[in-house]
Amino acid sequence: MYGLVNQAIQGLVTKEFGEESWLEIKAKAGVTDPIFVSMQSYDDSVTYGLVGAASEVLDMNASDLLEAFGEYWVLYTAEEGYGEMLDMAGNTFPEFLSNLNHLHRRVGDIMPGLTPPSFECEIVSEQEIKLFYTSRREGLDPMVTGLIKGLAKRFGLKKVKVVLSESKKVKDLSKSTFAVTWESN
Ligand code: HEM
Repeated sequence: MYGLVNQAIQGLVTKEFGEESWLEIKAKAGVTDPIFVSMQSYDDSVTYGLVGAASEVLDMNASDLLEAFGEYWVLYTAEEGYGEMLDMAGNTFPEFLSNLNHLHRRVGDIMPGLTPPSFECEIVSEQEIKLFYTSRREGLDPMVTGLIKGLAKRFGLKKVKVVLSESKKVKDLSKSTFAVTWESN
């Protein structure tokens, strides 16, 4: 994954648990690079290694960490120069969710070789969407839950519920379905 992702993990851990925890996590994960370069591609094992080490050092389960990370990602990218891209992805929560592939295509224009996820949306009602997530990676469902919650906050929505209703492996793809419901303000 691009260094931006590892940087965001560093950002979240440092903000919530301090610099010392971060250094411990980095060491446990066997990362010797002094910094992550946002526009450089790193092996996925670096990211998974950081999450695993963080889970041990902070005594949190990886799923809770990934969810917190997903929520943080929405804030982090907005602050790290991708705010305009986020702004352009939609003026409403449903519009934004249906533009996620478009958003990652734009990210791919500046990050060659990006392996983005893919999303499909089914509008169920004014306050319910089914979101179909497809990834070449495994185990990131909790991150998607956090991302959706982070986005809902970005749009000021209250009482958002994200329920993972299906998760399966089809050949080398992870495919999951989320039922997303909210209350309008
Ligand atoms: C402007 C904002 C965003 C940027 C710059 C961005 C960029 C990226 C990058 C660099 C990766 C790592 C992929 C790689 O390096 O091969 C990634 C992965 C991912 N992104 Fe985004 N992203 C953004 C917003 C979002 C949003 C709002 C969602 C909400 C659902 C999202 C969902 C994901 C997921 C789930 C992954 C994990 C990869 C996978 O499933 O295989 N991203 N994104």
